[in-house]
Amino acid sequence: MKKWNASRAPAGRIAYVNGRYLPFALAGVHVEDRALQLGDGIYEVANVIGGRPLDEEPHLDRLERSLRELGMPMPMSRAALKLVMREMIAKNRIADGFLYIQVTRGAVKRDHIPPANGPRPTLIMTMRAQDMAGLDQRLKKGIAVSTQPDIRWGRCDIKTVQLLPNLLAKQAARKAGAFEAWLVDDEGYVTEGSSTNAWIVDKDGTVITRDLSNAILPGVTRRVILQAMAEAQLQVVERKFTVAEALAASEAFLSSATGAGVPVIAIDGRAIGNGMPGALTRRIRELYFAQAEVETGLKNA
Ligand code: PDD
Repeated sequence: MKKWNASRAPAGRIAYVNGRYLPFALAGVHVEDRALQLGDGIYEVANVIGGRPLDEEPHLDRLERSLRELGMPMPMSRAALKLVMREMIAKNRIADGFLYIQVTRGAVKRDHIPPANGPRPTLIMTMRAQDMAGLDQRLKKGIAVSTQPDIRWGRCDIKTVQLLPNLLAKQAARKAGAFEAWLVDDEGYVTEGSSTNAWIVDKDGTVITRDLSNAILPGVTRRVILQAMAEAQLQVVERKFTVAEALAASEAFLSSATGAGVPVIAIDGRAIGNGMPGALTRRIRELYFAQAEVETGLKNA
């Protein structure tokens, strides 16, 4: 194998795969990896700000929970995972971006049932820089969403790599000229976005987001926003809401590691509120980032 030098590899192009840091061109997994063959794996996405992973503990809590729910072991201790995350940030030379972690059940002869005592899990990490200009535009101008039927399975609370229904929904939304899809269950209630949690603000200024259940992913950003809102004594209710309620809302927004408090200004082509990013959405985003700056050491508490 050709020798390579991490300091000369392009920024953002180093992957961690099962103990090795490799440039993308040399990185790979076994052809019989169960994530590739069967979708048998889970993942996490963490925002990196100023070279530090944001909301690290809750992301690792959820990673551990997803693995537990699928009966998979942790690929390594939490302390070791944190070390690899830091190495990845340093080797990729990315201060502001996203860290992707995938854990699969490992590589073994294809069979629905894996052997009782194996295989060893596969651990993959990759990174990418944040598209600051793109995010800036979304925050300033807001985005449109398109409602799509929620055709996913009954355990949307597990962050599995099986994202096909999410991808199809987002693709349909993009075709309809929207940035994100809001998934709607059989009863007409919004579950969540294809890769985000969904929020609305009613005419009285009460913020509403769907309560946790098997129907949605327990978003880390969602949880931190709820905490920040509680501390700021803002009105919030965790309950399901219909598309009709969302259309009548005064504001709406999205949350995810890739965007906390992204304003939604239109749903299915109909303006929300005055059709501009809302003031409460902005306040909530500021609360979130004030906390993030303290957590990542960018600002003193
Ligand atoms: N998506 N709901 C779904 C279906 C998601 O895929 C995500 C995250 C969220 C928000 O969760 P969090 O706040 O923990 O990022 C909600 C990530 C960003 C992704 O798949 O890229």
